[in-house]
Amino acid sequence: MAYFDNAATTYPKPDEVYSFMDSFYRTHGGSAGRGNYDLANTARGIVDETRTLIQRLLHCPAKQVIFTPTATIALNMIIQGLIVGEAKNIYISPFEHNAVTRVLHHFEQTGQITVTELTVSKSLEYDLERIRYQFDSLRPDLVIVSHASNVIGLVAPVEQIFELAKEYEAKTLVDMAQTAGLVDLNVGLETIDYAVFAGHKTLLGPTGISGFVMKPNANLTPVLFGGTGYDSANQNMPDSIPEKYEMGTLNIAGIAGLNAALKWITQQTVERLYQEEETQRQRLLKVLTKYGFLTVVGNVENRKYVGIVSCLIDGISSDTAGSIFAERGISVRTGLHCAPRAHQFLGTFPAGTIRFSVNALTADSDFEELQDALEDIEMNL
Ligand SMILES: Cc1ncc(COP(=O)(O)O)c(C=O)c1O
Repeated sequence: MAYFDNAATTYPKPDEVYSFMDSFYRTHGGSAGRGNYDLANTARGIVDETRTLIQRLLHCPAKQVIFTPTATIALNMIIQGLIVGEAKNIYISPFEHNAVTRVLHHFEQTGQITVTELTVSKSLEYDLERIRYQFDSLRPDLVIVSHASNVIGLVAPVEQIFELAKEYEAKTLVDMAQTAGLVDLNVGLETIDYAVFAGHKTLLGPTGISGFVMKPNANLTPVLFGGTGYDSANQNMPDSIPEKYEMGTLNIAGIAGLNAALKWITQQTVERLYQEEETQRQRLLKVLTKYGFLTVVGNVENRKYVGIVSCLIDGISSDTAGSIFAERGISVRTGLHCAPRAHQFLGTFPAGTIRFSVNALTADSDFEELQDALEDIEMNL
């Protein structure tokens, strides 16, 4: 089996992630913040340490880290909280995931918000002049940008877009599901209000643990409620952060895995992991462009990308293509990748694309198997 679906979830993880999850959860699997005995205290310790590791990796020691089970839940909590708090005019990039657009669609249907796409040129450049014009015409309350598209891997100039957004006093939210721990971003910047991370993707941790970073004074309206392990007689959520946004029992096994992954990334360095992923992306592009039956979509010279490449096969639907690759042991993702608006922008809607995604841990043997499979497909087309 050759794995080219790292944008869905990275696989394999560094060995340290598997071994530390197993050993920590066997020996310290208590419930963090739910008791004052050894097991609960060591669980609490790993949670606190993991928050600090995230703050260091994202350069935001003064911001707070909230853990959630998925990036989708984190995005829901922020977007819904801001809409309840009166955000009406919401701008998004053309590349947002359904974890953003379905939430917005729900509120758009009820007439509570308007959603506008930021202008991006056909050559995949965010047009800041036009975006300023858009903001002048309809003042933004909230600007949401996917740091990297999960369809074509394009990295957005988040710092510039948010600097502009702040001239209009908009709230800002960056979805780092495809970039945290891979593309260096100073999340400590005053212009970034919220940054969402997915533990199981570029952060190389397990599924079931994700979260977001926010300013301590953000005053985000809570939209989920429940037990926090203290102040139980009070039926309001506590004012303290992270408890205000962390209801329910935390995923200690997941946090242990994320802890080991963060230490591994810190040791390797984000810069090196990005360089290695870029080398793998170039290698992937070289293999794919050798075959005339494949057309790469959304890859423009001199733009910054993560290791995601989308393709089309002439005359074959992307879903059929998925089976063709699966029969040959190649794991790829086909269709719309939960990002229909990105495909509308790229002109690949509704059929979608075949998506290959690599990272620093993609093995030589994966590339060899891909090459063999492509030779075989070419002969049998
Ligand atoms: C850009 C982006 N945002 C959000 C998500 C949602 O992540 P999760 O499914 O882990 O909640 C994904 C997952 O594919 C993604 O690629």
